[in-house]
Amino acid sequence: MTTPSPTRTPKRPAPPESVVAPTTPAPDDATQLPSCWRDVRDALAAGIDRLVLFGPPGTGKTYAGLTLGDVAGGAYRLICNEDMTAADVTGHFMPTADGTWKWLDGSVLKAWDGNGSIGGRIVADEIDRASGDVLSLLLNMFDNVESASWQHPDSGVVHRPRPGFSVIMTTNVEDMRDLPVALKDRFPVAIRIDQPHPGALARLSPYLRAPAAAAAAADKARRFSVRSFMAFDRLRESGMDLERAAFLIFGNHSKDILDAIRVDAVSKRPAKKAS
Ligand SMILES: Nc1ncnc2c1ncn2[C@@H]1O[C@H](COP(=O)(O)OP(=O)(O)OP(=O)(O)O)[C@@H](O)[C@H]1O
Ligand SMILES: [Mg+2]
Repeated sequence: MTTPSPTRTPKRPAPPESVVAPTTPAPDDATQLPSCWRDVRDALAAGIDRLVLFGPPGTGKTYAGLTLGDVAGGAYRLICNEDMTAADVTGHFMPTADGTWKWLDGSVLKAWDGNGSIGGRIVADEIDRASGDVLSLLLNMFDNVESASWQHPDSGVVHRPRPGFSVIMTTNVEDMRDLPVALKDRFPVAIRIDQPHPGALARLSPYLRAPAAAAAAADKARRFSVRSFMAFDRLRESGMDLERAAFLIFGNHSKDILDAIRVDAVSKRPAKKAS
């Protein structure tokens, strides 16, 4: 089973000079969720079990797919690309050390089976990259629990998804109209994730959280994901000079990002009392 990497507990670097660490809402405070994440929470709570999360990179779509809602049956990841074949989806035979062949279930089959009593969650990433054939297979396997089935080529056993099987597909397309009609039809609930999840921001030093949220939502030319800020944070933690770390990560945009960090910090400083 694929699980997200454990949360790092970094040694927090000192904010740059003239920067006062702002206070950021606790990530587990549901009332502070950006609206796109409230939509995800509410859709899952309403029992929606076929969901597309689309939009800019690094906002937490995959992590959410693997962790949010009911994942008691286990969560499995399938990363689509042009070279992917049905073997990645359903499974394939592998040679073993003793010269025999052993069947290995593909990730969708594993998610269908879940924990043996309830179905699991499949997170299909970069769905726009799947070839036509694989996409058709996926859409059939993501059909409702009553209609989806697959026959094992060797044993002839017919597999079906266990009740509880759920699917979250993710993609970086900016506009759902760019996805195939068949996919949109099977997945009527598609949410554009334009804000990083507060849990992702919480992994950053506090002084980087608001600038990272703003940079993730900026237009494409000036957009930087939380991953860039995580790398910046790590360089700073290691003691690298502020300007150099910013240039390494943000290149020609480093001055703008540093300005955003400073402006945000200044705006959050308590106002001085008039004497
Ligand atoms: N809720 C969260 N709590 C803690 N860490 C998170 C959370 N959401 C995301 N992260 C971390 O933020 C980073 C980006 O998350 P993720 O890979 O899910 O983004 P994504 O939207 O799927 O990106 P892409 O579109 O590029 O695939 C990862 O390092 C992930 O572990
Ligand atoms: Mg992803």
